Amino acid sequence: MKRYQICCIGAGYVGGPTMSMIAYQCPHIDVTVVDISQARIDSWNSPSGDLPIYEPGLRELVLSVRDRNLFFSMELDEAIENADMIFVAVNTPTKMSGLGAGRAADLTRWELSARRIAAVATTPKIVVEKSTVPIRTAEAIASVLTASGRTHFSILSNPEFLAEGTAIQDLQNPDRVLIGTNTEDPCSVEAMNVLVDIYSHWVPRNRILTTNVWSSELSKLVANSCLAQRVSTINAVSEICEATGADIDEVANAVGLDKRIGVKFLKASIGFGGSCFQKDILSLVYLCESLGLDEVAEYFYWIVKLNDHQKERFVFRIIHGLFNTVTGKRITILGFAFKKDTGDTRESSAIEVCRRLLHENAILSIYDPKVQSSQILSDLGHCTRLDPLELNQHVSIYADPYEACNQSHALVVCTEWDLFKELDFERIYCQMEKPAFAFDGRNILPHERMKSLGFVVYGIGKPL
Ligand code: NAD
Ligand code: UGA
Repeated sequence: MKRYQICCIGAGYVGGPTMSMIAYQCPHIDVTVVDISQARIDSWNSPSGDLPIYEPGLRELVLSVRDRNLFFSMELDEAIENADMIFVAVNTPTKMSGLGAGRAADLTRWELSARRIAAVATTPKIVVEKSTVPIRTAEAIASVLTASGRTHFSILSNPEFLAEGTAIQDLQNPDRVLIGTNTEDPCSVEAMNVLVDIYSHWVPRNRILTTNVWSSELSKLVANSCLAQRVSTINAVSEICEATGADIDEVANAVGLDKRIGVKFLKASIGFGGSCFQKDILSLVYLCESLGLDEVAEYFYWIVKLNDHQKERFVFRIIHGLFNTVTGKRITILGFAFKKDTGDTRESSAIEVCRRLLHENAILSIYDPKVQSSQILSDLGHCTRLDPLELNQHVSIYADPYEACNQSHALVVCTEWDLFKELDFERIYCQMEKPAFAFDGRNILPHERMKSLGFVVYGIGKPL
Protein backbone atom coordinates (compact mmCIF):
# COMPACT_ATOMS: atom_id res chain seq x y z
CA MET A 1 0.00 0.00 0.00
CA LYS A 2 1.24 3.49 -0.84
CA ARG A 3 2.52 5.30 2.24
CA TYR A 4 1.06 8.71 3.04
CA GLN A 5 3.31 11.41 1.58
CA ILE A 6 3.91 14.87 3.04
CA CYS A 7 5.94 17.55 1.30
CA CYS A 8 7.04 20.80 2.92
CA ILE A 9 8.15 23.77 0.84
CA GLY A 10 10.72 25.76 2.84
CA ALA A 11 13.51 24.12 4.84
CA GLY A 12 14.02 26.93 7.34
CA TYR A 13 13.54 27.47 11.08
CA VAL A 14 9.95 26.27 10.82
CA GLY A 15 9.98 23.76 7.96
CA GLY A 16 13.03 21.82 9.24
CA PRO A 17 12.02 21.31 12.89
CA THR A 18 8.26 20.84 12.34
CA MET A 19 8.73 18.24 9.62
CA SER A 20 11.37 16.42 11.69
CA MET A 21 8.85 16.17 14.53
CA ILE A 22 6.08 14.87 12.26
CA ALA A 23 8.46 12.29 10.75
CA TYR A 24 9.58 11.23 14.22
CA GLN A 25 6.06 10.89 15.61
CA CYS A 26 4.54 9.34 12.47
CA PRO A 27 6.87 6.60 11.18
CA HIS A 28 4.13 5.50 8.76
CA ILE A 29 4.34 8.80 6.85
CA ASP A 30 7.11 9.88 4.45
CA VAL A 31 8.09 13.53 4.80
CA THR A 32 10.09 15.37 2.14
CA VAL A 33 11.30 18.92 2.79
CA VAL A 34 12.24 20.95 -0.29
CA ASP A 35 13.85 24.34 -0.74
CA ILE A 36 15.27 26.55 -3.48
CA SER A 37 18.54 26.92 -1.60
CA GLN A 38 20.99 24.15 -2.49
CA ALA A 39 23.26 25.19 0.40
CA ARG A 40 20.43 24.75 2.92
CA ILE A 41 19.42 21.34 1.60
CA ASP A 42 23.06 20.19 1.52
CA SER A 43 23.44 21.29 5.10
CA TRP A 44 20.28 19.43 6.23
CA ASN A 45 21.75 16.37 4.52
CA SER A 46 25.23 16.88 5.95
CA PRO A 47 26.67 13.46 6.97
CA SER A 48 28.21 14.99 10.14
CA GLY A 49 24.87 16.54 11.15
CA ASP A 50 26.15 20.09 10.66
CA LEU A 51 22.63 21.49 10.20
CA PRO A 52 21.87 24.97 8.80
CA ILE A 53 20.27 26.10 12.07
CA TYR A 54 21.20 25.64 15.70
CA GLU A 55 18.37 24.49 17.93
CA PRO A 56 18.83 22.41 21.11
CA GLY A 57 17.81 18.78 20.43
CA LEU A 58 17.28 19.29 16.70
CA ARG A 59 20.40 17.49 15.51
CA GLU A 60 19.54 14.32 17.47
CA LEU A 61 15.96 14.45 16.22
CA VAL A 62 16.97 14.87 12.57
CA LEU A 63 19.62 12.17 12.72
CA SER A 64 17.09 9.73 14.20
CA VAL A 65 14.71 10.01 11.24
CA ARG A 66 16.71 11.32 8.28
CA ASP A 67 16.68 8.88 5.38
CA ARG A 68 14.21 6.73 7.34
CA ASN A 69 11.06 8.72 6.61
CA LEU A 70 12.47 12.27 6.52
CA PHE A 71 14.15 13.51 3.34
CA PHE A 72 15.61 16.86 2.30
CA SER A 73 15.59 17.49 -1.43
CA MET A 74 15.88 20.07 -4.20
CA GLU A 75 13.40 18.10 -6.36
CA LEU A 76 10.47 20.44 -5.76
CA ASP A 77 8.24 19.22 -8.59
CA GLU A 78 8.71 15.55 -7.80
CA ALA A 79 7.94 16.12 -4.11
CA ILE A 80 4.83 18.15 -4.95
CA GLU A 81 3.50 15.58 -7.40
CA ASN A 82 4.05 12.68 -4.99
CA ALA A 83 2.53 14.45 -1.99
CA ASP A 84 -0.90 13.96 -0.48
CA MET A 85 -0.39 16.94 1.80
CA ILE A 86 1.83 19.99 1.14
CA PHE A 87 2.92 22.35 3.91
CA VAL A 88 4.12 25.76 2.81
CA ALA A 89 6.65 27.18 5.29
CA VAL A 90 8.43 29.81 3.20
CA ASN A 91 9.49 33.15 4.64
CA THR A 92 7.02 36.05 4.63
CA PRO A 93 9.10 39.12 5.55
CA THR A 94 7.89 42.72 5.65
CA LYS A 95 7.57 44.25 2.17
CA MET A 96 10.44 46.62 1.46
CA SER A 97 8.97 48.50 -1.50
CA GLY A 98 5.71 49.17 -3.30
CA LEU A 99 2.25 49.24 -1.82
CA GLY A 100 2.31 48.62 1.93
CA ALA A 101 6.12 48.91 2.11
CA GLY A 102 7.40 48.75 5.70
CA ARG A 103 4.12 47.26 6.94
CA ALA A 104 2.53 44.55 4.78
CA ALA A 105 3.88 41.00 4.59
CA ASP A 106 5.63 40.13 1.35
CA LEU A 107 3.79 37.09 -0.01
CA THR A 108 5.91 36.68 -3.15
CA ARG A 109 7.42 33.38 -2.01
CA TRP A 110 4.04 32.05 -0.94
CA GLU A 111 2.46 32.89 -4.25
CA LEU A 112 5.40 31.40 -6.18
CA SER A 113 4.98 28.20 -4.18
CA ALA A 114 1.25 28.13 -4.87
CA ARG A 115 1.84 28.67 -8.60
CA ARG A 116 4.40 25.86 -8.61
CA ILE A 117 1.92 23.53 -6.89
CA ALA A 118 -0.81 24.53 -9.36
CA ALA A 119 1.51 23.93 -12.31
CA VAL A 120 2.72 20.52 -11.18
CA ALA A 121 -0.10 18.81 -9.28
CA THR A 122 -2.27 16.33 -11.11
CA THR A 123 -3.82 14.54 -8.10
CA PRO A 124 -5.84 16.08 -5.20
CA LYS A 125 -3.74 17.83 -2.56
CA ILE A 126 -4.25 19.21 0.91
CA VAL A 127 -2.30 22.49 1.04
CA VAL A 128 -1.39 23.67 4.55
CA GLU A 129 -0.55 27.30 5.26
CA LYS A 130 2.28 27.00 7.80
CA SER A 131 3.92 30.38 7.18
CA THR A 132 2.52 33.34 9.08
CA VAL A 133 0.37 35.24 6.62
CA PRO A 134 -2.12 38.11 6.63
CA ILE A 135 -5.76 37.34 7.19
CA ARG A 136 -7.56 36.04 4.07
CA THR A 137 -4.36 34.78 2.42
CA ALA A 138 -5.85 31.28 2.22
CA GLU A 139 -8.63 32.68 0.09
CA ALA A 140 -6.18 34.35 -2.31
CA ILE A 141 -4.06 31.22 -2.49
CA ALA A 142 -7.13 29.11 -3.19
CA SER A 143 -7.87 31.19 -6.27
CA VAL A 144 -4.30 30.76 -7.57
CA LEU A 145 -4.44 27.00 -6.97
CA THR A 146 -7.84 26.34 -8.43
CA ALA A 147 -7.26 28.52 -11.51
CA SER A 148 -5.42 25.66 -13.27
CA GLY A 149 -8.57 23.53 -12.87
CA ARG A 150 -6.50 20.32 -13.13
CA THR A 151 -7.19 18.87 -9.71
CA HIS A 152 -8.83 19.59 -6.36
CA PHE A 153 -7.10 21.46 -3.55
CA SER A 154 -8.20 21.74 0.08
CA ILE A 155 -6.58 24.67 1.89
CA LEU A 156 -5.94 24.60 5.63
CA SER A 157 -4.41 27.20 7.90
CA ASN A 158 -2.07 25.73 10.52
CA PRO A 159 0.06 28.52 11.99
CA GLU A 160 3.17 27.58 13.93
CA PHE A 161 3.72 28.79 17.49
CA LEU A 162 7.21 27.41 18.21
CA ALA A 163 9.82 29.78 19.62
CA GLU A 164 13.44 29.47 18.56
CA GLY A 165 15.74 28.04 21.20
CA THR A 166 12.90 25.87 22.53
CA ALA A 167 11.50 24.68 19.18
CA ILE A 168 11.78 20.96 19.86
CA GLN A 169 10.11 21.10 23.26
CA ASP A 170 7.44 23.44 21.85
CA LEU A 171 6.74 21.01 19.00
CA GLN A 172 6.80 17.98 21.28
CA ASN A 173 4.46 19.52 23.82
CA PRO A 174 2.56 22.44 22.26
CA ASP A 175 0.12 24.56 24.29
CA ARG A 176 -2.19 24.15 21.30
CA VAL A 177 -2.24 23.23 17.65
CA LEU A 178 -4.48 25.48 15.58
CA ILE A 179 -6.14 24.32 12.37
CA GLY A 180 -8.35 26.64 10.37
CA THR A 181 -10.62 25.39 7.66
CA ASN A 182 -13.63 26.27 5.59
CA THR A 183 -16.21 24.56 7.77
CA GLU A 184 -18.90 24.80 5.10
CA ASP A 185 -16.98 22.71 2.58
CA PRO A 186 -17.11 18.94 3.32
CA CYS A 187 -13.81 18.35 1.45
CA SER A 188 -12.06 20.93 3.65
CA VAL A 189 -13.49 19.37 6.78
CA GLU A 190 -12.26 15.98 5.58
CA ALA A 191 -8.81 17.49 4.98
CA MET A 192 -8.88 19.02 8.44
CA ASN A 193 -9.60 15.60 9.94
CA VAL A 194 -6.55 14.17 8.19
CA LEU A 195 -4.33 16.87 9.73
CA VAL A 196 -5.99 16.44 13.15
CA ASP A 197 -5.19 12.71 12.91
CA ILE A 198 -1.53 13.42 12.18
CA TYR A 199 -1.13 15.70 15.21
CA SER A 200 -3.15 13.29 17.38
CA HIS A 201 -0.21 10.88 17.24
CA TRP A 202 1.42 12.92 20.00
CA VAL A 203 -0.72 15.96 20.88
CA PRO A 204 -3.72 15.44 23.22
CA ARG A 205 -6.92 15.92 21.22
CA ASN A 206 -8.19 18.70 23.51
CA ARG A 207 -5.17 20.80 22.57
CA ILE A 208 -5.93 20.59 18.85
CA LEU A 209 -8.21 23.53 18.10
CA THR A 210 -10.22 23.82 14.92
CA THR A 211 -11.58 27.18 13.79
CA ASN A 212 -12.54 28.93 10.61
CA VAL A 213 -9.60 29.89 8.40
CA TRP A 214 -9.70 33.60 9.17
CA SER A 215 -9.80 33.11 12.94
CA SER A 216 -6.75 30.88 12.59
CA GLU A 217 -4.81 33.38 10.45
CA LEU A 218 -5.71 36.28 12.73
CA SER A 219 -4.95 34.36 15.95
CA LYS A 220 -1.34 33.91 14.90
CA LEU A 221 -0.79 37.65 14.38
CA VAL A 222 -2.59 38.45 17.63
CA ALA A 223 -0.62 35.88 19.65
CA ASN A 224 2.69 37.42 18.56
CA SER A 225 1.38 40.93 19.17
CA CYS A 226 0.27 40.01 22.70
CA LEU A 227 3.65 38.46 23.52
CA ALA A 228 5.55 41.44 22.12
CA GLN A 229 3.21 43.81 23.92
CA ARG A 230 4.21 42.29 27.26
CA VAL A 231 7.87 42.83 26.44
CA SER A 232 7.25 46.45 25.43
CA THR A 233 5.18 47.00 28.57
CA ILE A 234 7.88 45.72 30.90
CA ASN A 235 10.55 47.63 28.96
CA ALA A 236 8.49 50.82 29.31
CA VAL A 237 8.26 50.12 33.05
CA SER A 238 12.04 49.66 33.15
CA GLU A 239 12.40 53.29 32.15
CA ILE A 240 10.12 54.32 35.00
CA CYS A 241 12.26 52.19 37.34
CA GLU A 242 15.44 53.91 36.24
CA ALA A 243 13.82 57.30 36.86
CA THR A 244 12.46 56.40 40.30
CA GLY A 245 14.76 53.86 41.93
CA ALA A 246 12.36 50.91 41.70
CA ASP A 247 13.91 47.59 40.59
CA ILE A 248 12.44 46.09 37.41
CA ASP A 249 12.99 42.45 38.42
CA GLU A 250 11.20 43.05 41.73
CA VAL A 251 8.34 44.82 39.96
CA ALA A 252 8.04 42.09 37.26
CA ASN A 253 7.99 39.40 39.94
CA ALA A 254 5.38 41.18 42.07
CA VAL A 255 3.17 41.86 39.05
CA GLY A 256 3.64 38.49 37.37
CA LEU A 257 2.75 36.41 40.44
CA ASP A 258 -0.84 37.51 39.90
CA LYS A 259 -2.08 34.39 38.09
CA ARG A 260 -4.23 36.53 35.81
CA ILE A 261 -1.04 38.20 34.55
CA GLY A 262 1.56 35.42 34.79
CA VAL A 263 5.34 35.55 35.14
CA LYS A 264 6.38 34.72 31.59
CA PHE A 265 7.42 37.33 29.02
CA LEU A 266 8.05 40.00 31.64
CA LYS A 267 11.83 40.01 31.36
CA ALA A 268 13.10 43.52 30.67
CA SER A 269 15.64 43.66 27.87
CA ILE A 270 17.26 45.79 25.20
CA GLY A 271 14.11 45.13 23.17
CA PHE A 272 12.67 42.16 21.40
CA GLY A 273 14.24 40.88 18.18
CA GLY A 274 13.68 37.91 15.91
CA SER A 275 12.22 37.57 12.47
CA CYS A 276 8.57 37.57 13.51
CA PHE A 277 7.41 39.92 16.28
CA GLN A 278 7.99 43.18 14.44
CA LYS A 279 6.92 41.82 11.05
CA ASP A 280 3.71 40.29 12.43
CA ILE A 281 2.76 43.40 14.42
CA LEU A 282 3.35 45.54 11.32
CA SER A 283 1.23 43.14 9.31
CA LEU A 284 -1.56 43.53 11.88
CA VAL A 285 -1.13 47.32 11.78
CA TYR A 286 -1.42 47.23 8.00
CA LEU A 287 -4.58 45.14 8.22
CA CYS A 288 -6.13 47.62 10.68
CA GLU A 289 -5.16 50.58 8.50
CA SER A 290 -6.63 48.87 5.45
CA LEU A 291 -9.86 48.37 7.40
CA GLY A 292 -9.87 52.04 8.43
CA LEU A 293 -9.32 51.09 12.11
CA ASP A 294 -6.82 53.86 12.74
CA GLU A 295 -6.91 53.87 16.55
CA VAL A 296 -6.45 50.11 16.67
CA ALA A 297 -3.57 50.36 14.19
CA GLU A 298 -1.90 53.03 16.30
CA TYR A 299 -2.34 50.97 19.47
CA PHE A 300 -0.45 48.01 18.00
CA TYR A 301 2.12 50.24 16.28
CA TRP A 302 3.21 51.60 19.66
CA ILE A 303 4.53 48.15 20.61
CA VAL A 304 7.14 48.50 17.86
CA LYS A 305 7.82 52.17 18.61
CA LEU A 306 8.51 51.41 22.26
CA ASN A 307 10.82 48.61 21.19
CA ASP A 308 12.84 51.01 19.03
CA HIS A 309 12.91 53.47 21.92
CA GLN A 310 14.27 50.81 24.29
CA LYS A 311 17.19 49.99 22.00
CA GLU A 312 17.96 53.67 21.49
CA ARG A 313 17.89 54.54 25.16
CA PHE A 314 20.15 51.59 25.99
CA VAL A 315 22.80 52.95 23.64
CA PHE A 316 22.38 56.48 25.05
CA ARG A 317 22.95 55.02 28.49
CA ILE A 318 26.21 53.43 27.33
CA ILE A 319 27.41 56.67 25.79
CA HIS A 320 26.45 58.79 28.81
CA GLY A 321 28.02 56.24 31.15
CA LEU A 322 31.28 56.37 29.20
CA PHE A 323 31.60 60.14 29.78
CA ASN A 324 29.59 61.08 26.69
CA THR A 325 32.03 59.67 24.17
CA VAL A 326 32.85 56.22 22.88
CA THR A 327 35.13 57.39 20.07
CA GLY A 328 38.10 55.05 19.83
CA LYS A 329 36.98 53.11 22.92
CA ARG A 330 36.95 49.33 22.77
CA ILE A 331 33.54 47.95 23.68
CA THR A 332 32.88 44.23 24.12
CA ILE A 333 29.56 42.97 22.80
CA LEU A 334 28.56 39.77 24.60
CA GLY A 335 25.97 37.99 22.46
CA PHE A 336 24.76 38.81 18.97
CA ALA A 337 21.83 36.39 18.48
CA PHE A 338 18.32 37.75 19.07
CA LYS A 339 17.92 35.44 22.08
CA LYS A 340 19.85 32.62 23.73
CA ASP A 341 20.04 29.07 22.35
CA THR A 342 19.84 30.10 18.72
CA GLY A 343 22.33 31.27 16.12
CA ASP A 344 19.64 33.41 14.47
CA THR A 345 20.41 37.13 14.20
CA ARG A 346 17.36 38.28 12.27
CA GLU A 347 16.22 41.65 13.71
CA SER A 348 18.53 41.06 16.68
CA SER A 349 18.66 44.11 18.95
CA ALA A 350 22.44 43.61 19.03
CA ILE A 351 22.60 44.78 15.41
CA GLU A 352 21.02 48.13 16.23
CA VAL A 353 23.18 48.56 19.35
CA CYS A 354 26.33 47.86 17.30
CA ARG A 355 25.20 50.11 14.45
CA ARG A 356 24.76 53.06 16.79
CA LEU A 357 28.04 52.43 18.61
CA LEU A 358 29.91 52.17 15.30
CA HIS A 359 28.28 55.42 14.22
CA GLU A 360 29.83 56.96 17.36
CA ASN A 361 33.24 55.57 16.26
CA ALA A 362 33.54 52.88 18.91
CA ILE A 363 35.77 49.84 18.33
CA LEU A 364 33.79 46.64 18.85
CA SER A 365 34.96 43.23 20.08
CA ILE A 366 32.14 40.76 19.59
CA TYR A 367 31.61 37.30 21.04
CA ASP A 368 28.65 34.97 20.50
CA PRO A 369 28.84 31.21 21.09
CA LYS A 370 26.61 30.25 18.14
CA VAL A 371 26.60 33.03 15.56
CA GLN A 372 29.09 32.66 12.67
CA SER A 373 31.58 35.53 12.17
CA SER A 374 30.47 35.83 8.56
CA GLN A 375 26.89 36.41 9.70
CA ILE A 376 27.92 39.14 12.15
CA LEU A 377 29.99 40.90 9.48
CA SER A 378 27.22 40.60 6.94
CA ASP A 379 24.61 42.04 9.37
CA LEU A 380 26.89 44.92 10.36
CA GLY A 381 27.99 45.60 6.77
CA HIS A 382 24.36 45.74 5.76
CA CYS A 383 23.20 48.10 8.51
CA THR A 384 26.23 50.45 8.49
CA ARG A 385 26.97 50.29 4.76
CA LEU A 386 30.69 50.18 5.69
CA ASP A 387 32.79 48.19 3.22
CA PRO A 388 34.54 45.04 4.55
CA LEU A 389 37.88 46.87 4.93
CA GLU A 390 36.36 49.67 7.03
CA LEU A 391 34.36 47.17 9.02
CA ASN A 392 37.47 45.14 9.83
CA GLN A 393 39.12 48.26 11.24
CA HIS A 394 36.27 48.76 13.70
CA VAL A 395 35.02 45.26 14.45
CA SER A 396 36.81 42.15 15.72
CA ILE A 397 35.04 38.87 16.33
CA TYR A 398 36.35 36.42 18.90
CA ALA A 399 35.83 32.73 19.56
CA ASP A 400 36.70 33.20 23.24
CA PRO A 401 34.82 35.56 25.58
CA TYR A 402 37.93 36.43 27.61
CA GLU A 403 39.86 37.50 24.52
CA ALA A 404 36.89 39.65 23.53
CA CYS A 405 37.11 41.43 26.90
CA ASN A 406 40.83 42.21 26.65
CA GLN A 407 41.60 45.96 27.02
CA SER A 408 37.93 46.77 26.80
CA HIS A 409 36.37 49.89 28.34
CA ALA A 410 32.94 48.32 28.68
CA LEU A 411 31.08 45.02 28.48
CA VAL A 412 27.68 45.18 26.81
CA VAL A 413 25.41 42.14 27.20
CA CYS A 414 23.03 41.87 24.24
CA THR A 415 21.99 38.19 24.47
CA GLU A 416 21.14 36.28 27.65
CA TRP A 417 23.44 33.27 27.03
CA ASP A 418 23.71 31.25 30.27
CA LEU A 419 27.49 31.04 29.98
CA PHE A 420 27.81 34.81 30.54
CA LYS A 421 26.57 34.37 34.12
CA GLU A 422 29.45 32.00 34.88
CA LEU A 423 32.35 34.05 33.47
CA ASP A 424 35.37 34.72 35.68
CA PHE A 425 34.71 38.42 36.28
CA GLU A 426 37.80 38.85 38.44
CA ARG A 427 39.94 37.78 35.47
CA ILE A 428 37.93 39.99 33.11
CA TYR A 429 38.22 43.00 35.44
CA CYS A 430 42.01 42.68 35.47
CA GLN A 431 42.10 42.62 31.65
CA MET A 432 39.93 45.71 31.19
CA GLU A 433 40.65 49.43 31.05
CA LYS A 434 39.63 51.28 34.23
CA PRO A 435 37.07 52.33 35.22
CA ALA A 436 35.62 49.07 33.93
CA PHE A 437 31.98 49.36 32.89
CA ALA A 438 29.32 46.69 32.38
CA PHE A 439 26.01 47.46 30.64
CA ASP A 440 23.78 44.48 31.15
CA GLY A 441 21.02 44.58 28.52
CA ARG A 442 19.50 41.35 29.87
CA ASN A 443 20.00 41.69 33.64
CA ILE A 444 21.75 38.34 33.86
CA LEU A 445 25.19 39.25 35.23
CA PRO A 446 25.94 39.04 38.98
CA HIS A 447 25.70 42.79 39.52
CA GLU A 448 26.52 42.95 43.25
CA ARG A 449 29.55 40.67 42.94
CA MET A 450 30.81 42.66 39.96
CA LYS A 451 30.38 45.95 41.80
CA SER A 452 32.42 44.57 44.69
CA LEU A 453 35.19 43.72 42.20
CA GLY A 454 35.23 47.35 41.06
CA PHE A 455 32.96 47.30 37.99
CA VAL A 456 30.56 50.16 37.33
CA VAL A 457 27.39 48.21 36.49
CA TYR A 458 24.28 49.42 34.65
CA GLY A 459 21.28 47.13 34.36
CA ILE A 460 17.98 47.68 32.58
CA GLY A 461 15.47 49.19 35.02
CA LYS A 462 17.96 48.90 37.88
CA PRO A 463 18.84 51.55 40.46
CA LEU A 464 22.28 53.00 39.78
P1 NAD B 1 13.33 30.82 6.92
O1 NAD B 1 13.80 31.98 6.14
O2 NAD B 1 14.22 30.23 7.96
O3 NAD B 1 12.93 29.62 5.93
C1 NAD B 1 12.19 29.79 4.76
C2 NAD B 1 12.78 28.89 3.69
O4 NAD B 1 11.92 28.94 2.54
C3 NAD B 1 14.16 29.32 3.22
O5 NAD B 1 15.07 28.25 3.36
C4 NAD B 1 13.95 29.70 1.74
O6 NAD B 1 15.06 29.38 0.92
C5 NAD B 1 12.74 28.84 1.39
N1 NAD B 1 11.99 29.34 0.24
C6 NAD B 1 11.64 30.62 -0.05
N2 NAD B 1 10.94 30.66 -1.19
C7 NAD B 1 10.86 29.38 -1.66
C8 NAD B 1 10.26 28.78 -2.78
N3 NAD B 1 9.59 29.52 -3.67
N4 NAD B 1 10.38 27.45 -2.95
C9 NAD B 1 11.05 26.70 -2.04
N5 NAD B 1 11.63 27.22 -0.94
C10 NAD B 1 11.54 28.54 -0.75
O7 NAD B 1 11.94 31.26 7.56
P2 NAD B 1 11.29 30.68 8.90
O8 NAD B 1 11.87 31.37 10.09
O9 NAD B 1 11.28 29.20 8.83
O10 NAD B 1 9.80 31.23 8.76
C11 NAD B 1 8.91 30.68 7.82
C12 NAD B 1 7.51 31.17 8.13
O11 NAD B 1 7.12 30.68 9.42
C13 NAD B 1 7.36 32.69 8.22
O12 NAD B 1 6.11 33.04 7.71
C14 NAD B 1 7.42 32.97 9.70
O13 NAD B 1 6.71 34.14 10.05
C15 NAD B 1 6.74 31.76 10.29
N6 NAD B 1 7.17 31.41 11.65
C16 NAD B 1 8.48 31.45 12.01
C17 NAD B 1 8.87 31.05 13.29
C18 NAD B 1 10.30 31.09 13.73
O14 NAD B 1 10.56 30.84 14.89
N7 NAD B 1 11.26 31.37 12.88
C19 NAD B 1 7.89 30.60 14.20
C20 NAD B 1 6.56 30.56 13.78
C21 NAD B 1 6.21 30.96 12.51
C1 UGA C 1 8.10 34.15 19.01
C2 UGA C 1 6.93 33.53 19.77
O1 UGA C 1 7.31 33.32 21.13
C3 UGA C 1 6.50 32.21 19.14
O2 UGA C 1 5.35 31.71 19.81
C4 UGA C 1 6.19 32.44 17.67
O3 UGA C 1 5.85 31.22 17.04
C5 UGA C 1 7.39 33.03 16.99
O4 UGA C 1 7.74 34.28 17.64
C6 UGA C 1 7.17 33.37 15.55
O5 UGA C 1 6.06 33.56 15.13
O6 UGA C 1 8.20 33.48 14.90
P1 UGA C 1 10.72 33.79 18.95
O7 UGA C 1 10.73 35.09 18.23
O8 UGA C 1 11.46 32.65 18.36
O9 UGA C 1 9.21 33.27 19.13
O10 UGA C 1 11.29 33.99 20.43
P2 UGA C 1 10.69 34.63 21.77
O11 UGA C 1 11.05 33.77 22.89
O12 UGA C 1 9.27 34.98 21.64
O13 UGA C 1 11.53 35.98 21.91
C7 UGA C 1 11.36 37.06 21.02
C8 UGA C 1 12.18 38.24 21.49
O14 UGA C 1 11.63 38.81 22.68
C9 UGA C 1 13.63 37.88 21.81
O15 UGA C 1 14.48 38.89 21.37
C10 UGA C 1 13.63 37.80 23.32
O16 UGA C 1 14.88 38.05 23.89
C11 UGA C 1 12.64 38.91 23.66
N1 UGA C 1 12.02 38.74 24.99
C12 UGA C 1 11.21 37.68 25.23
C13 UGA C 1 12.26 39.69 25.97
O17 UGA C 1 12.98 40.66 25.75
N2 UGA C 1 11.68 39.52 27.19
C14 UGA C 1 10.86 38.48 27.46
O18 UGA C 1 10.34 38.40 28.61
C15 UGA C 1 10.62 37.53 26.46
